[in-house]
Order: sequence, then structure tokens, then C-alpha cells
Amino acid sequence: MVNHFLKLSDIAPEEIQPLLERAIELKAGATSNALAGKSVAILFEKPSLRTKLSFWVGTEKLGGHPVHFAPEEVGLGRREPIADVANVMSRMSDIAVIRTFEQSIIEEFAAAASIPVINALTDLEHPCQALADTQTIMEQLGGVSGAKVAYIGDGNNVAVSLGYAVAGLGGHLTVASPAGYTVPGESLEGANTYGASAGGSVTQVTSPEEAVASADIVYTDVWTSMGQETESAKRLVDLDGYQVNPRLLDQAGSNVKFMHDLPAHPGEEISDGLLYDSRSIVFDQAENRLWAQAALMEKLI
Ligand code: NVA
Repeated sequence: MVNHFLKLSDIAPEEIQPLLERAIELKAGATSNALAGKSVAILFEKPSLRTKLSFWVGTEKLGGHPVHFAPEEVGLGRREPIADVANVMSRMSDIAVIRTFEQSIIEEFAAAASIPVINALTDLEHPCQALADTQTIMEQLGGVSGAKVAYIGDGNNVAVSLGYAVAGLGGHLTVASPAGYTVPGESLEGANTYGASAGGSVTQVTSPEEAVASADIVYTDVWTSMGQETESAKRLVDLDGYQVNPRLLDQAGSNVKFMHDLPAHPGEEISDGLLYDSRSIVFDQAENRLWAQAALMEKLI
């Protein structure tokens, strides 16, 4: 039975905390040879900075060898059937890291693979991001249990995975989005069920002010995700009023921290300069991709 990480809930809620503690240990200098003599195939069908760099460097830190395929190289399901690619990769590498479009693509890939498959972003989830995010919240607040996290804007892949991770660790995520941009109902329900035993929750509201009231963390992501470029003009109009800026942060808890998974679009979902506001922890968050994913690869292998 191969362990995949295709969505955040592929690991049990009680497995998240130890995984993040291991990530923090690796960050503090613990060494690991978990991938010695092993290769990690990294296949991306969308652009990437942090994900490529963190999986590449993370693989090397664990003693392994990364092999990267850029979007135009493989043509998953177009140049070659998805299952054929999965079979070939399984013969020559030890972990497959996939960034693609529909969740069904990575599910089909994993069904044919005999090595662990990691979701490095799909249209539905970005679970590696959520591991790094909750690691960052742990570092900042000492834990995620009881934390109040506000997510403002598009209820997208980042919001979905964040909801599962925060709720699974006993925290509370409130998502503020306009009609048409809320977290899918199935994911909202799924995250609440997933987080129930830890006492965590995910709530959808409309008002950004309501979401940020007494929040420890305010989080946002782009209004136009990769693959949605043709909707960009409409999204700018529909999400107007959901910008995170100093005025909104001032309405949150007095020690509020600001998070964004990057890349950011100042003037859209954030105001100019917000990444460099004293309350911003976005670059700690970005760095933690490296450590959270190293801990994940160690666990899956
Ligand atoms: N929601 C964004 C995240 C980018 C890391 C996207 O899917 O493009």
C-alpha cells in the first residue's frame, strides 16, 4: 500500500503535529538521509518558484536526487497517457511530485503509480502549502490549537487545504469571500468533519471585517489562480473590497500576523508594500515550504 499525499486529509489529523515538529527539527539543523540513493521526479504543468526550489533543495538535503520537468516537457494526458507517465516514473524514481490542473489528473496518476505521489498544487488543493502555513503559525503562536485565522478573498485551492490543516490542528479558520468565490461546500463540510475531533472549525462569511475581528493571523491569496487568467478582469471587479491592507489588519488582534503564499499582486488582493509591513511573516512562510516538505517526504518514503 503506497502512501500518497494528494489532499491534506490523506494524512490523519493527529499526524500533522508530529510532522510539523519534525519540520521544525530539520529547520533547526537535524540531518536526515531518508532519500539517500533515491530520486524524486518533479513534474509541473504550471509555473512555480517556491515549490520547485523547495522540493529540489529539500530532496538534496535528505540525500536524494531531484529530476525536474517543466510544463512544456511531458504533456500529461496529452502527449502521453497519464497512467503511462506514472508507470515510467515509478520504475525510475522513488517519489513523484506533481503540479497540475484538475484533481482528477493527480488521482489518476496516483492510481497507476507504485511510488508515493505528492500534490504540489492542483485546482482543488495546495496541501504542501498548508503544511508550511501551519508550521509557520505554530512557530509564531506556539501552536495552532485555538488560533483564530482569517482568510480573505477567493475560496480557492490554498483556502481549502488551509482549512483542513488549521481545523485538523484544532484552530479556527474564518473565510471571507463574496458570493461565487466561497470555499466549495463539500470542502467546507469535509474540513469541519476532519477537524471535529481536534475541536477545530472552518466558517464561511461574507464580511472581511467580521473575519478579521480578533484574528491572530490574516491570510490572503491571489484573486486569479493559475489557469484562470481569462477570468481575471471579472475577478478584479467581483473581489473588489476584499483587499488586505493596513486598515483591515488594524481591525484584527493587536499582535496579528499577515500571511500570503505568494506570488502576490499588490494593488489587487494586497495593498502596495504589505509584504514588507512589520506584521508580515510571508518570507518565513515561504521558507517553511522547504522544511515541511522535507518532513513530508521523509514520512512518505
Ligand atoms: N491559488 C494560487 C496559488 C499559487 C501558489 C494558484 O493556484 O495559482
